[in-house]
Amino acid sequence: MMDMECSLKFLTSICMILFLLGSYAAYESVRLVDAREDNEKHYVTLQVDASNATGRPIPETLFGIFFEEINHAGAGGLWAELVSNRGFEAGGQIIPSSIWPWSIIGDESTISVVTDRSSCFERNKIALRMEVLCNSSGCPSEGVGVYNPGYWGMNIEEGKKYKVTLYVRSTGDIDVSVSLTSSNGSLTLASEQIIALASEVSKWTKKEVLLEANGTDDGARLQLTTTKNGSIWLDQVSAMPVDTYKGHGFRNDLFQMMVDLKPRFIRFPGGCYVEGAWLSNAFHWKETVGAWEERPGHFGDVWNYWTDDGLGHFEFFQLAEDLGAAPIWVFNSGNSHNNQVETASIMPFVQEALDGIEFARGDANSTWGSVRAAMGHPKPFGLKYVAVGNEDCGKKYYKGNYLEFYNAIKKAYPDIKIISNCDGSSQPLDHPADYYDFHVYTPAKALFSMSHMFDNTSRDGPKAFVSEYAARGKPDANKGNLLAALGEAGFLLGLEKNSDVVGMVSYAPLFLNTNDRRWLPDAIVFNSSHLYGTPSYWVQQFFTESSGATLLSSTMEGNSSYVEASAISFQSNGSDYIQIKAVNFANVTVELKVKMTGLDSKVSAKKKKVLTSASVMDENSFSNPEMIAPQETILVMPEGNLTFVLAPYSFASLDLLKES
Ligand code: AHR
Repeated sequence: MMDMECSLKFLTSICMILFLLGSYAAYESVRLVDAREDNEKHYVTLQVDASNATGRPIPETLFGIFFEEINHAGAGGLWAELVSNRGFEAGGQIIPSSIWPWSIIGDESTISVVTDRSSCFERNKIALRMEVLCNSSGCPSEGVGVYNPGYWGMNIEEGKKYKVTLYVRSTGDIDVSVSLTSSNGSLTLASEQIIALASEVSKWTKKEVLLEANGTDDGARLQLTTTKNGSIWLDQVSAMPVDTYKGHGFRNDLFQMMVDLKPRFIRFPGGCYVEGAWLSNAFHWKETVGAWEERPGHFGDVWNYWTDDGLGHFEFFQLAEDLGAAPIWVFNSGNSHNNQVETASIMPFVQEALDGIEFARGDANSTWGSVRAAMGHPKPFGLKYVAVGNEDCGKKYYKGNYLEFYNAIKKAYPDIKIISNCDGSSQPLDHPADYYDFHVYTPAKALFSMSHMFDNTSRDGPKAFVSEYAARGKPDANKGNLLAALGEAGFLLGLEKNSDVVGMVSYAPLFLNTNDRRWLPDAIVFNSSHLYGTPSYWVQQFFTESSGATLLSSTMEGNSSYVEASAISFQSNGSDYIQIKAVNFANVTVELKVKMTGLDSKVSAKKKKVLTSASVMDENSFSNPEMIAPQETILVMPEGNLTFVLAPYSFASLDLLKES
């Protein structure tokens, strides 16, 4: 007893010390970023050469997005499927297996539920068997059966329609209620019966019902219940909202958040998700195509959750097409986090990559192009970029494997641009590549100071693909605050100015379902019914005019170590604009004077957009989703005096219209 008390006291003291150390670290970090703090106004001048003749074209594909299946970005996120573990495969192949998150309605005296391997689908044999055993007085009036809560509750909205599809088999007649209900089943939001004779369902039969909700609940569940004794097998139970983007299965609100970033490319499906902790759990694209019912699903062992792979290889290309973004497919390089394939044995992986490319862009009569065509897209998808692996450069067989992929792909598809995992920013690559992948996660201040990191990169050789960047770390970036976003703004301005050697840029990760946080911070945060953009999301929106624009030569004068700025010219709706973007990464007010030379017409200030907040540590939340979001104002400013005030810790853009 005494010993326990001592240990408790000891533990409490340790915790106190850790707490104090943590608080000091937090204080120190904020103090450091607040180093520039005084009441004086500071002055900087941006000298801009506004003539397009001396400007430099910014790549058409500079700003894009990176979608990884992490934080339930797809399963329980963008992919609108409401049922989780729809094929009962998540519990593994040894039977009887766990059916989580399915649960049983009824007790041992009325129902027994097990899994067996009787499915009609070859690649996913597990099915659910319900023995309904109600005694002579019958089943409870509400029936017995199973329910699925979806991904932490289904968002069911009044007046909307939901298509439920399931496969069923029975030794007798069936009468099954398919219902959407409140989270505890007490309130029915929609219900239909599936009634069939034994002769019809003695073999696996597909059934579909359309449910129209008469109420709203964002924590709803799907119930399959009956009051009839007998054996019923169920498999591949899906509930899809009818209202998804173009009917393509993407959750509308999350899709819109991506559209608003005007992404010029989309990198997918990972990240570490592509690698797997083990190769057996990596993303194998062939397992994710064809009829959804026949996909086996897989356990993503890096982010530790099951996906039914409704969002598969085809759907990623469809997503890219719907976004008007160039697809960038990342495939496994024969490397996972724990095991690797030697170069001597890599050919099956190379063939898998070639087949995956053929699936995307082969004609409808080719072996894999025909699979795509059968899925409803006879026209090839425009795949022009592939990445060989993710963060694998240091691994023993990476370079050997890479060369096999590179040579085979260039031979079959000379126009495809190939992205290497090895960093070419400080020294030339020792192997051929069109781009090299560059990832950076670091505290906000460090990221801000990396805005010049590509200034000295060799102008020859492959360009950088900064496919993952974010200010990260506690308390510095926390769950995604203004400080992190401003660090990123500085970094991005540097990338924009170095877009002769940086070809593509995307933030990571894109999405977070708050019910399963695997990585913080993220750009878009959501649950079943709500969402918001973090300040990092909004910073990206400042760059929507940049891809394909012209970078104007600009220089900063004055004490500007905490100010970064850029100038571009672009066209919109037939008009010519100049845009100045500037970030102030200090707790001081800065007056920025813009001096322009080389103008061939008059300019008038049109619009100012500002991102800031009362405290640099502020974050958005479900209850205050746009506390930190760009504020737009119409500007009136005389041509000869383009001066604007940068509030402490703020990011601003100024649009100037060139008069014709
Ligand atoms: O973006 C989260 C992870 O960070 C990615 O999966 C990986 O590539 C990187 O380490």
